Amino acid sequence: MSDSSISKFFEKTRKERLDIVANFANLSTKELEILQSNDGGLSFEKADNMVENTIGTFSLPLGVATNFLINGKNYLVPMVIEEPSVIAAASSGAKIARIQGGFQAICDESFSIGQIQILNTEINSATKILNSSKEIIDLANSFSNTLSKMNKGAKQVSCKEIDTALGKMLIVELFIDVGDAMGANITNTMCEGVSTLLEKITGGKALLRILSNYSTKRIAKVTAIFDKKEIGDQVIDYIISAYQFADNDVYRAVTHNKGIMNGIIAVANATGQDSRAIEAAAHAYAAKSGKYRSLSTWTRDSNGNLVGSLELPLSVGIIGGIANVHPIAKVCMKILQVSSAKELACIMIATGLAQNFSAIKALSTDGIQKGHMQLHARNLATAAGAKPDQVDKIVQKMIQEKKISLDRAKEILNNLVDL
Ligand code: MEV
Repeated sequence: MSDSSISKFFEKTRKERLDIVANFANLSTKELEILQSNDGGLSFEKADNMVENTIGTFSLPLGVATNFLINGKNYLVPMVIEEPSVIAAASSGAKIARIQGGFQAICDESFSIGQIQILNTEINSATKILNSSKEIIDLANSFSNTLSKMNKGAKQVSCKEIDTALGKMLIVELFIDVGDAMGANITNTMCEGVSTLLEKITGGKALLRILSNYSTKRIAKVTAIFDKKEIGDQVIDYIISAYQFADNDVYRAVTHNKGIMNGIIAVANATGQDSRAIEAAAHAYAAKSGKYRSLSTWTRDSNGNLVGSLELPLSVGIIGGIANVHPIAKVCMKILQVSSAKELACIMIATGLAQNFSAIKALSTDGIQKGHMQLHARNLATAAGAKPDQVDKIVQKMIQEKKISLDRAKEILNNLVDL
């Protein structure tokens, strides 16, 4: 198994980085070409088939985070994001987590929840629905040969009555094992498919028939130990105080959780997931106690090390959806070498925790601007044409002078060359 702890990956040229990733993931020449294509991998024709009124495509940076060790397996994690520092922060969090064995992650089976809203029902409708569970499940499953063949598909029906300003409404829910798919399409198909039967059973009118994005039957959990010697006692106390701030103040909690989602959504983008579904579920989960809180927790273990955990619903798929259409998403899946949707969810949640660790560590020590500026200066020095051994000198000088620009980087580089 290849090792994902690659030193100074950021200082390498694009070609060197691509060679490392290609070796790590056994990428073919064709896959390497896709990563280097000018149209961001997505032809206009493909884009035009995906959405309406298409006039072009839109590219974002794709990087890989290094150092990830999750459940004993090494990963280079592809991340698509426009914000500087996020990929560096994920890599650095993963590097520290590695010292104590990396991330331990688990994920529920992939059950989606489909909802059917029924109005004007006769009395005892809930009992009648539950008594007809088998008939409803069999009908739902008749809409997917693939899931049925894999012994997956609709498994359970449940009912709840909600009070609304318009009176009581009956909500029927289908729990569907969607396997390695995200499952939105099949869930919606099944909900629509059983609605006439539900109307017959209840004497009511089925109105909305749709997947719930609050995917509480697809919870991913991760924990990691961050070494005391590596971060220092004082910083551990600061990080725990930063967590307490987030857990007890909604204004801070939203930003803290946004940092977690920086990691998760960047991997979701790279692998073609529905990022809006993931965001919506995560923030609802943060408020599950009735108060919006931190999605992560930070404590000390008995050895004084820092322990971080993160738990949230993650509805992701490795088959179906754009993960199978977008050429770059397909290559990113290959880089990850995942064999199940659960494995992908484990990687995403680990990236979220790594990201959160680095963000609150930076915030509770130097602040985030210093790292941002250093990265920005480093990128400019490289863009100015500096060789790896010249970059540090140029960065130091620009930061010292507080003049961080491409022109200044070029000037300093020219002076270095003249010397
Ligand atoms: C910036 O995109 C994310 C942070 O604001 C997260 C946080 O404050 O924890 C740095």
